[in-house]
Amino acid sequence: MKTGIIGAVKEEVDLLVRSLRESNSPVRETHLGSMEFFEGKIANAHVVICRCGVGKVHAAMCAQVLISGFSVDRVINTGAAGGLDDRLSLFDIIVSIDAVQHDFDVTSFGYKPGCIPGFTSPFFIADPGMRLTALNAFAEVIAQFPQDSIKPSVYEGRVATGDVFVANDIIRAELRERFSPVCVEMEGAAIAQVCAAYSIPFVILRSISDLAGDTANVSYDDFSEQASKMSALLVIEMLQLLQ
Ligand code: ADE
Repeated sequence: MKTGIIGAVKEEVDLLVRSLRESNSPVRETHLGSMEFFEGKIANAHVVICRCGVGKVHAAMCAQVLISGFSVDRVINTGAAGGLDDRLSLFDIIVSIDAVQHDFDVTSFGYKPGCIPGFTSPFFIADPGMRLTALNAFAEVIAQFPQDSIKPSVYEGRVATGDVFVANDIIRAELRERFSPVCVEMEGAAIAQVCAAYSIPFVILRSISDLAGDTANVSYDDFSEQASKMSALLVIEMLQLLQ
């Protein structure tokens, strides 16, 4: 089994690439367009890690290459996200139940918000087995945190994706009203759409770097690196469990 792992920016894949390099097996690096691919082994699992760049087009390009070029059997998307659910705090983890492209709109032709012609639903469903593995990985990772440290929580839910960094209270409220998502980011549902087109299982893992309100950009600048690490840690643990 080969697992494709996608992060948009360097800080989202750094820990994974480091782990790959420390594994004592060869690492094959490929540059394609603006994307970087790293193929090798983590915890004996065959992986292809990609830093794809920000946004839905980069994400879709990457998912396509992973599937048709590298023949991956499943895809994990990892990184930071803006929290939309009232329960969320910084660094909490989201495991996707499904994902929607919140900025896709052909409602004037009678489609539901987010629904893409050719698909029957706006929501791309994550793989139940991969979701369960992510939850188990979370339990393992959290058990290794020091007793007295603040521990992130895990939530399952809907991921909303669009080509916009949401840093606005009004847009935040509209997203919640329209799609009931737990978080917002800029790649997940594009990856999900490509995976759905090829019947490739996927899951999106995200850690909260901000709450997508008026000051989200400040919070993102301060906390996205740590959130990205938290999400990547879970992916590494997932790879141990998935074998
Ligand atoms: N990724 C992290 N925070 C985000 C936000 N507020 N909007 C979109 N993508 C994000």
